Amino acid sequence: AGTAPVQAEPGAVTDIAHRGSSGSAPENTVAAVQVALRQHASFVEVDVQRSADGELVVLHDVTLDRTTDAEEVFPGRAPWRVGDFTMAEIRSLDAGSWFADEFAGEPVPTLREVVNALGRRAGLLLEVKSPALYPGIEAEIHQELSDIPGYLPSALAAGNLVIQSFDHVSMFAYHEIAPEVPVGLLYGARPTEAELVAASEWADQINPSYRVTDRALVDRVHELGMTISVYTLNTGRLMRQYRNLGVDGIITDYPAVLRQILRER
Ligand code: G3P
Ligand code: CA
Repeated sequence: AGTAPVQAEPGAVTDIAHRGSSGSAPENTVAAVQVALRQHASFVEVDVQRSADGELVVLHDVTLDRTTDAEEVFPGRAPWRVGDFTMAEIRSLDAGSWFADEFAGEPVPTLREVVNALGRRAGLLLEVKSPALYPGIEAEIHQELSDIPGYLPSALAAGNLVIQSFDHVSMFAYHEIAPEVPVGLLYGARPTEAELVAASEWADQINPSYRVTDRALVDRVHELGMTISVYTLNTGRLMRQYRNLGVDGIITDYPAVLRQILRER
């Protein structure tokens, strides 16, 4: 806790709260970020998209119906695409009740609200979700992060900001806009050797599903000078298994469990 920037120990595994501490609070809300901070997560992962009126909004799905009450509030607006709603409309939704009554009324946050909630207490692993739906979002994200007073230079200096996406074209665009910002490439399928070599020219992280990750992949990513964080490990058995493979980061819905396991040695 406190306000000091996070400093990872050399060789330490970074514990990353997935969509906030999403096992204990509604994903991608300020409440989930606050729980992650209380649990002393080193990094918090969230997903960013864009509203109809250009606000950068933190939400996982490209539609609002799973994690808000959009179906009840806007019954005629199926399929409730994020990009079809203004920020004021999104703001009127309840993004907490679906998870538990105690979170009733928790709003969908903006990117700026999430960054402000994090402060310097944890790093931000920011996933650009479905950027093909939001042309130009990379420059807008970078502008927003640059506009938050005191944020970007200190976050970069502390190693506390990474931008990632499954859309690697988008990540290359981000890298071209702001080469000083580390970028990560998400993979649902195992990356090929050619993909890894090409990525190592400009990307900083390879972040695959644990299901496609083995020791050979971990070692190859390291040989190429990148780091590897795996998603999404939600049992102690998996956390220990992938820690022992030498991954650099573990993305989990249960950062408190992960912290305990990382303390084991
Ligand atoms: O950070 C990795 C993970 O968030 C990618 O999957 O679907 O949870 O965004 P998803
Ligand atoms: Ca994500």
